[in-house]
Amino acid sequence: MPGTGNKAFDIAWVREQFPSLKLQVNRQPAAFLDGPAGTQVPKQVMDAVQNYFLTANANTYGAFATSRRNDALVASARGAMADFFNCDSGQVVFGQNMTTTTFALARAIGREMKPHDEIVVTTLDHDANVAPWRALEEKGVVIRQVDIREADCTLDLDDLKRKISAKTKLVAVGYASNIVGTINPVAEITKLAHAAGALMFIDAVHYAPHGLIDVKALDCDFLACSPYKFFGPHMGTLYGKREHLEKFKPYKVRPASDVSPECWETGTQVQELIAGIGAAVDYIAELGRHCDPRVKGRREALQAAYRATHQYETGLLTRLIEGLQTIPGMRIFGITDAKRFDQRCSTLSFRLGDHNPTKIAAFLGDRGIFTWDGNFYALNLSERLDVEKHGGVLRVGLVHYNTAEEVDRLLAALHEFPG
Ligand SMILES: Cc1ncc(COP(=O)(O)O)c(C=O)c1O
Repeated sequence: MPGTGNKAFDIAWVREQFPSLKLQVNRQPAAFLDGPAGTQVPKQVMDAVQNYFLTANANTYGAFATSRRNDALVASARGAMADFFNCDSGQVVFGQNMTTTTFALARAIGREMKPHDEIVVTTLDHDANVAPWRALEEKGVVIRQVDIREADCTLDLDDLKRKISAKTKLVAVGYASNIVGTINPVAEITKLAHAAGALMFIDAVHYAPHGLIDVKALDCDFLACSPYKFFGPHMGTLYGKREHLEKFKPYKVRPASDVSPECWETGTQVQELIAGIGAAVDYIAELGRHCDPRVKGRREALQAAYRATHQYETGLLTRLIEGLQTIPGMRIFGITDAKRFDQRCSTLSFRLGDHNPTKIAAFLGDRGIFTWDGNFYALNLSERLDVEKHGGVLRVGLVHYNTAEEVDRLLAALHEFPG
């Protein structure tokens, strides 16, 4: 396919796996460029959820067949997420979504904090990695916010170094920005946090559909992501180092298990969707085997999948940026230099003249092209870039099931947008 930079990537096979990609709107094929707010799911995930209801629909730890099957499915999904994170099953926590999980974790960590202890957050992050930590201000905890370099929407690492001190107890940084696509040097930041004796929490929600996560290599203390952003169902997952999951005490009901990771999973989980999470990870692994039949275990298959999708998505991104730059009045936020594409993923935001992004999104939506407008809850950044009061930005999210033709349709429609 021209412009994708990777002839070997079998986009036809990929699109076959996602039944919803066949949807039509106003007699136009739907172009799902809305992935950063939630991706489409492959049929493997749909089948797993249906299969759960058909064969394993029961609560946990009963002395009968469906309950035992439920327990086996949850254990299997935990194993799949362990391969996804590169950790042990006992370090994987399921939850309603990243926001809820992070509030619960922040409450538990906050129990151990004292007035004047400090937490470092950033201007680049989604509010789900800001508000749960800011909630601890009620206990006298001090929040320090790291600024960005406005020219390319990257984190200001000098400011970060200034803000981390002996008082810092936790550093909360996103792996990738859900507005401008910047990938942060989280391994380097983890080292800075640890050198100051602080914990490192990574919000990997936006990174997870684009890049392989390796918590061992990162050495982070916690990392959260949401399967519905990487081709799975609407849920959240959290990785934690075992010593922390055991040391910190979540708020819970008394009869529930005190043993980690289950003590972190309050109430009855959405078990049918947990089954779907296992299937989402297996889909990515299947893609990896399709791209490279030599791979052996699931982790190796995941590595192969992300190698292939990264190259493919970079091709799409290049085509998109080159095309957008020919449109008069276009202002792209973030890194646009192809030589620096290893520092960003294929999520891009722009403003077109002083047009309201909602109007552009509606114009594109009528043509079957799905994009998002607004701040996407990355409120600090939207305010910092001074676009918040003007309706935010228009966001285009490219994942591995998107095509060069969809990028071209978007570009053609933007050229037609009445100025
Ligand atoms: C970077 C980032 N962090 C956190 C979240 C919140 O995730 P959830 O919807 O699972 O609470 C989102 C959702 O858009 C996100 O993009």
